[in-house]
Formats: sequence, C-alpha cells, structure tokens
Amino acid sequence: MRVHVADHPLITHKLTVLRDKNTPSPVFRALVGELMTLLAYEATRDVRVEPHAIETPVAPTTGVRISEPRPLIVPILRAGLGMLEGMVTLLPTAEVGFLGMARNEVTLEPTTYAERLPDDLSDRQCFVLDPMLATGGSLTAAIQFLFARGAQDVTAICILAAPEGLAAIEKTLDGHDVTIVLGALDDHLNENGYIIPGLGDAGDRLYGLV
Ligand code: PRP
Ligand code: URA
Repeated sequence: MRVHVADHPLITHKLTVLRDKNTPSPVFRALVGELMTLLAYEATRDVRVEPHAIETPVAPTTGVRISEPRPLIVPILRAGLGMLEGMVTLLPTAEVGFLGMARNEVTLEPTTYAERLPDDLSDRQCFVLDPMLATGGSLTAAIQFLFARGAQDVTAICILAAPEGLAAIEKTLDGHDVTIVLGALDDHLNENGYIIPGLGDAGDRLYGLV
C-alpha cells in the first residue's frame, strides 16, 4: 500500500478553515471542492494514458490521451459526494459509480445500503472518494467491493485520516495494489471513533444533521 500525504501550504490553509467549527456549510462545501481539485491532481499522477497522434496548426505531433477503459470514480455516499465535482472537473471523461455506506455509531461497523457500479471492473482504474478515513472500516469494505468485481488497482482520496485507520487497511489489504492520497494525517481516534483533531462529522457538516 502506498500512502501519499499532500504537503502544500494551500492545502493546509484550506484544511484549517475546514476544521474550524465556525465554518458554515456553504463555505465547508466550497472548500471540500477546492481541496478535492488539489488532491485529485496528486491522485491522478499515475492515471493510464496512451499515445495519441494529432496535428497542430503547424506540425504533426504525438501527445497522450486517457486510456480505455475509462477510469471509474466511486464517491462513498454521503460525504464522498462533496468531493465528486472537484474530481470530475479534473477527469471529465471518467465514469462514476456509487457506493452508499453508513457507519454504525455504536459498533463503528459499516453497512452498505446502496450500490451502483459496473459488474466487471477488470482493467478499470478506480478512484474512491471519502473525506474521512477513521477506523478504516468503510474504506476497507469499499475497496474490497471493487477488488471483488475485478479491479486491479484502487486509489482512495481522503481529506483526513487517522493512523489507526491506515494501519487497519494495510493489515486487511496487504498485497493489493492500493494507493491512499491524503490532505493530512491526523493524530488519533477518540473513544467514539472520531478523528482528532479532525473536523467533526463530514456528512453533517456538508449536508446537515439527518
Ligand atoms: C463517515 C465518513 C466515512 C466513514 C469513516 O461516513 O464519510 O465514510 O464515516 O469512518 P470509518 O473509517 O470508521 O469507517 P458516515 O458513516 O458517517 O456516513 P455519511 O457519509 O452518510 O455521513
Ligand atoms: N466520520 C466522520 O465524518 N468524521 C470522523 O471523524 C470519523 C468518521
């Protein structure tokens, strides 16, 4: 497993505003979008491309284009939806599949309540979006889902992670081709499974309490 923590003052600046409990939902949503565009740039460093011949107004040349099959972006509902627009802005030809997951706030175990993904993910590059990697239960289940459908490599983009969650994913998915791109690696999980210092409940801050 590869872990890449984006180290850029703009990301840290935007994260600071995002973490602030006084930041209202509209600003929070806009910041998630902006952060996502920056993280997506890091996460797509190894996106598959193939040579593509074109003619400029003055000469023929060979550039590249995104390979087929097109990459698949998988936001994990709900909070991952807030990251989708930033990702498709950078990768507009990608396709989008959906996984709905909710963590039981007592047991911290995830359940999957919705799925809309292609049956066959062989040769697809998959990009999973979820802002929070806490215990790692949700992301592990999502990545296992994609591997079970034939995906060979998965890149997950998370805004914040806890070391405990990263260790759990590493243990469960040892030997699989997994890359995790983070805005920041935080300190620890509290007794309720929340990332510390974190930003609270990402879904609630994006969309309100339900
Ligand atoms: C949050 C978050 C992750 C999960 C992380 O979602 O968006 O999916 O918790 O926790 P874990 O690493 O311990 O599994 P939540 O289940 O609260 O659902 P929501 O996105 O609908 O708010
Ligand atoms: N889910 C969140 O939204 N925030 C956390 O800190 C942990 C799980």
